[in-house]
Amino acid sequence: MKFETRHWAWLLSILCLSAAQSLAQSPTADVNRVLAVYDNRNTAAAVKDSQAQSDVTPPWKRYRTEILTMLAVVLLQSATVIALFVQRRRKIRLQAELNLERLELAYLSRTSQLGELSGALAHELNQPLTSILANAESGVRLLDNDPIDVNELRDILGDIVLDNKRAATVITQLRRLMIRGETSLEPMDFNHAVTTTLALARSELLARQTRVDVVLDMPDVPIRGNLPQLQQVILNLLLNASDAMAHLPPSQREIVIRTRKRERGVSELTVTDRGVGIAPQRRSEVFKPFVSTKKTSLGLGLAISRSIAQAHGGTLRFDESFDEGARAIFILPARTGDA
Ligand SMILES: Nc1ncnc2c1ncn2[C@@H]1O[C@H](COP(=O)(O)OP(=O)(O)O)[C@@H](O)[C@H]1O
Ligand SMILES: [Mg+2]
Repeated sequence: MKFETRHWAWLLSILCLSAAQSLAQSPTADVNRVLAVYDNRNTAAAVKDSQAQSDVTPPWKRYRTEILTMLAVVLLQSATVIALFVQRRRKIRLQAELNLERLELAYLSRTSQLGELSGALAHELNQPLTSILANAESGVRLLDNDPIDVNELRDILGDIVLDNKRAATVITQLRRLMIRGETSLEPMDFNHAVTTTLALARSELLARQTRVDVVLDMPDVPIRGNLPQLQQVILNLLLNASDAMAHLPPSQREIVIRTRKRERGVSELTVTDRGVGIAPQRRSEVFKPFVSTKKTSLGLGLAISRSIAQAHGGTLRFDESFDEGARAIFILPARTGDA
């Protein structure tokens, strides 16, 4: 057991209390008085005198030791209470600082992942913008015709609206991922987290010539989660899986991402690849911070992903029985009332 301030404070307090008790019961004062009386016992006047003297001694003088001791005990106990209060405040502050650092780390890793995707995301935005420009230009040209083909104009405007929505979705997802320190868990659908992450990673995975098979067994897998954090986990698992298959010919680079409901409302997401795999003795090692086999990576992805899984009351691990590549298993608990 660690001996903390509060243990010292309690020990001190107990010692003072026993000291106070023994002092209060101390016979010294009474013995002195009895001896004085004994010395003068033959003198009735002396006894009377002594009685008179003890009667006139003010209470403060008679009980001075006891009063002072009690005061010291009260003071010490107050000091104990204050020390405990200060210690508790310090503990709460340290916990808050730790949480903030964890969030900051998660945020940094998220933005560095976004950095990895930035080229592909620029392309993702460029496509609808180019198409909007082309459609707007042909719309302007159409206006010169007489009569104006209203149906064609309507089609052109419809395409512009669709492309605009596509670009807006990418920007909204990006902004959500960039938000700092958002931690609340909301009722949501696991499948939604998967499809929105895939929308973000689509061009990057295309550039890496990696195919993704999405198997969503149920139309809706209810969980409680924080969307940007879940997207961060899924993105990291997808990019890890793709990195692990970089040496394979493009036709063999395939990831299967699957969500399903397990017994008692528990939800499961698996990401399976046919890459280099992880040796059994490294399967827990890879979750430690700064463990990486990549030249330019920090090795924080899985450590942060696991802490996000735990903050959701869930788990993240690699399948022990799968050895044709790697299979990450991300489990989330049942949503209250769904079990
Ligand atoms: N799907 C996978 N297949 C093989 N090895 C993997 C896989 N996922 C993770 N790893 C190993 O775990 C290490 C740590 O992963 P991670 O924490 O995401 O950090 P990083 O991706 O920055 O290296 C990787 O460097 C890699 O060696
Ligand atoms: Mg990674």
